[in-house]
Amino acid sequence: MADWVDACDAGELGDGEALGVQVGGEAIALYRVDGAVYATEDRCSHGLASLSEGMLDGPTIECPLHFGCFDVRTGAPTAAPCSVPIRIFPAQERDGRILVAL
Ligand code: FES
Repeated sequence: MADWVDACDAGELGDGEALGVQVGGEAIALYRVDGAVYATEDRCSHGLASLSEGMLDGPTIECPLHFGCFDVRTGAPTAAPCSVPIRIFPAQERDGRILVAL
C-alpha cells in the first residue's frame, strides 16, 4: 500500500506548470497536465539540472540545461540528449493538498 506524503498546497501548482518541492528528503518535481498531477524526481538523468525549472508542454518536460525531454507520465526520455528514464512517483490531489507516494 502506498505511503502518501504531503507535498504542497494544490493551489501552488497551476495547470501546465511544474513545481519543485522537497518530499521526505527527496527533490521532487510536480506537474499538472490537463488537471491531473504527476511527480518525478527533480533531476535530469543527463546532468545536473532541475526538471522543475524546465518548460512543460502537455505531458512533456523539457530540461532547462540541454533541452532533452521526458514524458512526465512515464519517465521515458522523448528527446535527445536524454536516453535514460527518470523515476516517477504516484501523485494525487486530495482535500486541497498534493500527496506523493515515495
Ligand atoms: Fe538535462 Fe542535459 S542536463 S538534457
